[in-house]
Amino acid sequence: MSCDFLALAQPGVQKLSPYVPGKPVDELARELNLDPAGIVKLASNENPLGPSSQVLSAIQGALPELTRYPDGNGFELKQALAVRYDVTAAQVTLGNGSNDILDLVARAYLAPGLNAVFSQFAFAVYPIATQAVGAEGRAVPAKAYGHDLPAMLAAIDANTRVVFLANPNNPTGTWFDSQALEAFLSAVPEQVLVVLDEAYIEYVEAGDNLPDGVQFLARFPNLLVSRTFSKAYGLAALRVGYALSSAQIADVLNRVRQPFNVNSLALTAAVAALADTDYLEAGRALNSAGMRQLEQGLAALGLSWIASKGNFIAVDFARDAAPINQALLQAGVIVRPVAGYGMPTFLRVSIGTEAENARFLAVLGQVLARD
Ligand SMILES: Cc1ncc(COP(=O)(O)O)c(C=O)c1O
Repeated sequence: MSCDFLALAQPGVQKLSPYVPGKPVDELARELNLDPAGIVKLASNENPLGPSSQVLSAIQGALPELTRYPDGNGFELKQALAVRYDVTAAQVTLGNGSNDILDLVARAYLAPGLNAVFSQFAFAVYPIATQAVGAEGRAVPAKAYGHDLPAMLAAIDANTRVVFLANPNNPTGTWFDSQALEAFLSAVPEQVLVVLDEAYIEYVEAGDNLPDGVQFLARFPNLLVSRTFSKAYGLAALRVGYALSSAQIADVLNRVRQPFNVNSLALTAAVAALADTDYLEAGRALNSAGMRQLEQGLAALGLSWIASKGNFIAVDFARDAAPINQALLQAGVIVRPVAGYGMPTFLRVSIGTEAENARFLAVLGQVLARD
C-alpha cells in the first residue's frame, strides 16, 4: 500500500508550484552540449561586476573558522547595518537572502483564515510564502504593470495581516514615488504589516524620486523594509538579506528564524560589502550605462519594454515569447521567461556587462531576423 503524500500535504502547499529560478549556465551547457565559457546568463538579476575584492579577502580570513557555527545573532553585521541606517541592532533581522525574510513574515503573521495583499505581476515569492502557510493571497490587478496602491488599499479587510510591496518590482521594474508610499502608509490600518521589499533599491539614482523606506520606519511602526546583499552588493551565492522594522516585529521574526540561518562566510562578506562603497558605485554606473545600451538596442530592433528602475528590463515581443527564448538558449544566451507571472509575451533581461548586453542584442537581432 502506498500513501498519497501530496494529498496529505496542507491544502495550500498542494496547490503550490515551485519557484522557477533562472537557468544555471552549467545546466544549459549540459543540455545543449555548449561550452559554459561561451554562455551569457542574463536571467537572475545578478551583479555582472563579479565579487568585490574586499569581500573576497574577508572571506579568505574567515575560512579557518569553518568548523564553528556562525554567530547566530549576527552581531557584527547587525551593528554595521544599525550604524549605516541609523536604527538599533534590535531592529534588524537577518535572513538567508531576503526570501527568508519574506518567509519569516508569512510564518509569523499569516495562517488559514488570514490573507496577504500584493500586486498582480509582483515578485513570485509573495504568493508562495502566503499559500505555504495556508493563508489567502490577494493579487490586486496591476495598473500599467505597476502596483495600483489605492486598489491594494481597497483590497485590505479585517483578515488582512500583511501587504507585500516591491519597489522597484521584479519582474516588471515598475516603481512608485515617495508621495504614493506616504499616502499608502498613512491610510493602511495600523494592524496590517506592510512589507516594503527594496531588493533593488541600491540601483536607484538621485532624482529618481523613489522613496527610501528606511526614512519611513520611525513614523510607521507597521512598516518592515526588506533588503538584500544579492543584487547590488554582488553576494547572491552567499544568501544574505535583512529586514529593518520595529524592535517588536524583529523580535517576533527572530522567534521563527532558524538559529543559524545566515552562515559565517555570508556574515563576514556582508560586513565587507557594506563598507565597499566604491563597488556599489561602480555597479550602479555599470547598470545605468547597460540600461541605456539595452534600451537603445531594443528600440533599434523595434521592440518595446516596461521602463525599469531595477537591474533588469522586461521586453514585450507582442507575441508568445517562448520560441524566442528557445532560440536565444540555442545560441547560448539565457534570459528569463515570465509566462508564469502571466506575461507570456515578455522576456526579462538582466543588465549585464557591456559585452554581455551587446551579445544579447546581436543574438536577438539574428533570432528576430529569421522569423
Ligand atoms: C523583488 C525581490 N525581492 C526579493 C528577492 C530575493 O532575493 P534574495 O533572497 O536573493 O535576497 C528577489 C530576488 O530576485 C526579488 O526580485
